[in-house]
Amino acid sequence: VRTLKLAVIPGDGIGPEVVGEALKALDAAVRGTDLVIEQTPYSLGAARYLETGDVLTDDDLAAIKQHDAILLGAVGGTPGDPRLAGANIERGLLLKLRFELDHYVNLRPTVLHPGVVSPLSNPGEVDFVVVREGTEGPYVGNGGAIRTGTPAEVANEVSVNTAYGVERVVRYAFAAASARPRKKLTLVHKTNVLVFAGSLWKRTVDAVAAEFPEVAVDYLHVDAATIFFVTDPARFDVIVTDNLFGDILTDLAGAISGGIGLAASGNINPDGRFPSMFEPVHGSAPDIAGKGIADPTAAILSVALLLRHLGEADAAAGVERAVAADIAERGDATRSTSQVGDAIAARIGSLD
Ligand code: NAD
Ligand code: IPM
Ligand code: MN
Repeated sequence: VRTLKLAVIPGDGIGPEVVGEALKALDAAVRGTDLVIEQTPYSLGAARYLETGDVLTDDDLAAIKQHDAILLGAVGGTPGDPRLAGANIERGLLLKLRFELDHYVNLRPTVLHPGVVSPLSNPGEVDFVVVREGTEGPYVGNGGAIRTGTPAEVANEVSVNTAYGVERVVRYAFAAASARPRKKLTLVHKTNVLVFAGSLWKRTVDAVAAEFPEVAVDYLHVDAATIFFVTDPARFDVIVTDNLFGDILTDLAGAISGGIGLAASGNINPDGRFPSMFEPVHGSAPDIAGKGIADPTAAILSVALLLRHLGEADAAAGVERAVAADIAERGDATRSTSQVGDAIAARIGSLD
């Protein structure tokens, strides 16, 4: 018997709704195997902050580090809620976890599943993965403001890109491309304007490319990349990009592949020094929270990424097959969050 310790952070809004369904899928996936999942729930997010004033304590962080992996729903309140003004749950909780646990790869796959109605009229075969840098860029919080609130205000956000940080994520992306049938890697940046960071990214990709001669390398400016996401997404295989460009591109990727409710992600620490964290790409969706209508598929597919990361490839594939089968038969039937979750969990048990 292999016991895996899983920290579960349901979070806010639809987070707990979709995590509930993801745990049903996880349960079904490990049933009958020698894998035992020991879950510990952590109550973190906007709701916890409003109740206790805590965002993420040192004790929380230390406890979370003692797990093999983390499953997170979504955190954050309604954008603009004045009660959360001083808290910054996103930075103090989500980004803090990504940074403290050195999740330098933010892995975001996009597949247009058969049966999904894409908003694109002629999408072609969409199957790509965005390798988004996860610990640097404009996300580091290296900024500040002076004369705030006056007409002379200056507000800075500095994008930090280190040779060490860029090289390790680029190397991961090349290895990922090398392991895929098409073996193609596209660097997305904005080297024409962000010349210093752009130059570092470009030179790093050129240097690492020499070690992966089987991988075809391509470059696009981020603005042009958004064009091709809509006009020709099938051209992409592996995309490597910085933290902010990757954030924006992966919401777009969700939208073109049938909706953000299908988009899964993993915040990976490839060295295995810290637990990796799996979560849907979407947020807490305050506009539909509490209605029981959120699509739990992204959270369920995040469980598949989690299982694969932990070396349970068969269980992961079982979840993905069940999701694909469910999606193929979805049509326009409106089902509740738990109806989708139950249907997928039932298939996981019966498809093998
Ligand atoms: P969002 O992703 O929560 O919602 C954007 C739109 O997508 C909304 O219309 C929402 O209803 C829809 N949507 C999202 N998930 C869905 C699902 N599973 N099924 C069906 N529809 C879905 O983005 P937002 O509104 O910009 O952010 C809301 C809050 O979530 C903010 O506080 C934000 O900071 C936070 N957020 C958290 C995470 C995270 O925890 N990883 C990610 C993104 C945003
Ligand atoms: C995401 C989210 C986060 C990000 C926010 C909530 C900090 O949008 O996971 O994509 O920007 O990374
Ligand atoms: Mn995002």
